[in-house]
Amino acid sequence: MCGIIGYIGQNKDFITKQMINSLKKLEYRGYDSSGICLLCDSEFKVYKSLGEIKNLEQVANYNVLSHMAIAHTRWATHGKVCFENIHPHTSQKGNWSLVHNGIIENYEELKLKYLKDVSFYGETDTEILPNLMEKFGFYETLKLLKGSFGICAINKNEPNKMYVARQHSPLYVATNNNVSMVASDPIVFADKFEYYTPLQEQSYAVVEFNKVKFFDFNNEEISPQKHKLGVFEKSAQKGNYPYFAEKEIKEIPRVLENVIENYEQTPYLEKIDYNFLKNIEKIYLIGCGTAYHACLMGEKYIEKNAKIPCKAFYASEFRYSPPIINEKTLCIYSSQSGETADTLMSLNLAKEKGAKTIALVNVPYSSIAKNCDIILPICAGMEIAVISTKAYSSMLFVFYLLAKHLENIKNNKKYDKNIINNLKILKKCNFLKNINKINKFVNLINNNEKIFFIGKDEDYITSMEASLKLKEITYINCISIPSGELKHGTLALVDDKSLVFVTATNKDVLDKNLASASEIKSRLGKIVLVTNLTLSKQDLKNVDYLFTFDSCPMELSSMLAITFYQYLAYKTCISKKLNPDKPRNLAKSVTVE
Ligand code: AGP
Repeated sequence: MCGIIGYIGQNKDFITKQMINSLKKLEYRGYDSSGICLLCDSEFKVYKSLGEIKNLEQVANYNVLSHMAIAHTRWATHGKVCFENIHPHTSQKGNWSLVHNGIIENYEELKLKYLKDVSFYGETDTEILPNLMEKFGFYETLKLLKGSFGICAINKNEPNKMYVARQHSPLYVATNNNVSMVASDPIVFADKFEYYTPLQEQSYAVVEFNKVKFFDFNNEEISPQKHKLGVFEKSAQKGNYPYFAEKEIKEIPRVLENVIENYEQTPYLEKIDYNFLKNIEKIYLIGCGTAYHACLMGEKYIEKNAKIPCKAFYASEFRYSPPIINEKTLCIYSSQSGETADTLMSLNLAKEKGAKTIALVNVPYSSIAKNCDIILPICAGMEIAVISTKAYSSMLFVFYLLAKHLENIKNNKKYDKNIINNLKILKKCNFLKNINKINKFVNLINNNEKIFFIGKDEDYITSMEASLKLKEITYINCISIPSGELKHGTLALVDDKSLVFVTATNKDVLDKNLASASEIKSRLGKIVLVTNLTLSKQDLKNVDYLFTFDSCPMELSSMLAITFYQYLAYKTCISKKLNPDKPRNLAKSVTVE
């Protein structure tokens, strides 16, 4: 959510192109607008544009020489999407310019208290920051702020320094002998630097072209740890695919192999031993959006295998209406980015109450990964498209391994790496079997007004995720509901313009699912059955269309079923000529509440 870049070099250069290219790597964080401010001979040269970064490319000047610049790609939170609200924001006096990610919660109060003499051109909370810095300087301004921020600021009169700060919003710095850069994701540093340093929570830094000094908010100098740029940070390439979304869906079999290889090489689960679990009475699984759906699936896997009471929570609900949490609670946080604000705040809450914590995350250097007792990497590789696809599948793989491991520990057994064999069965399956038939289902979606996804038990969770995927990138208003719940109200919506996807992977409840299908049929709705079960003619009586995916043991079926729906959403999006990587109103990493 909002991408920030800062650059300071020893010598002047034509850096506009490089800034824009770096910004493009952060476009997944927001694409409502973008802007760049270059310091050129004591003057700020500012270029801004609404919409995607390709629009900024059209208006930016590539022939200006500069040694210092900041840039920003925006996902609007405070203040609508309009030209005035585009970052970088410059103070009225014109000495400070800055970019910001986050929300300054007390901006109205600070405006009234200190900035009555300033005429503001936009509506953002950010615009107060350069104006406060004019009055109080960088550090004194930080002390006034409430909320979340990643800030990169420059001052015309200090051409050899860039000021950066973080509170609840990630920020990274990298430096070599003649250039330093700041970014809200270290992927920007790939090919340019070997090492980078994450700013510690509630700290700031003064960045020069060849050195960086770090301070905590008490102004004490600190030495945060450097990280070597890893394969993960370097893996954000689209290759020959038209969109990241397609690439990432098609990478799922490779991700499965990654999980298997990684968990075979490193016994991550071994740390969750008898001692760690001693006294644990309840497990909470916490996430947002797709990661929350993975938690729901995790809840099923753990309860069915390990028989430990579990409950999945939306992180935003967990924070504001928390269940009973104490030292006997284990909280598992699931997040692709590892930076989602609600999930991170829920983690802080659980830690305050003494709970044990596990992170199931993709980004290894993320805040959630760093702040949990144990990390279970999901090994999906960089996920760029705003829709989470391979990361969801990967979360299911890891939750499943965790469930199998917990079952062993519960039965007083030690870590047994053979649990991985359960997952290896999936390697033989074709995740995209029959996918060449997908256009038929895309047409059905496009020719119906109402789309429903139903199922029972784990298939209901698949339905929830299928529905989220479709609405997220096609803007189709669709519903997911447990099949048994239809007749309690939602059935009133079903008519001859309705298409209902019934997911069925459990033979034991097939007749119940098919009973729901007959309710839909009698209201003139059309049924698509999505299954890997072997069915009789009688079973198919009320089914209008059938999609069969590869067969596998029932407990693994949801891991295959979802790929059909991910690809279906993708293809429907393409049929509507929309961009699946950048759905409207959304951003990949939601680092504000
Ligand atoms: C998924 O398609 C969504 N873009 C969204 O629901 C996402 O899963 C959610 O914001 C959580 O993100 P996280 O996994 O990075 O925490």
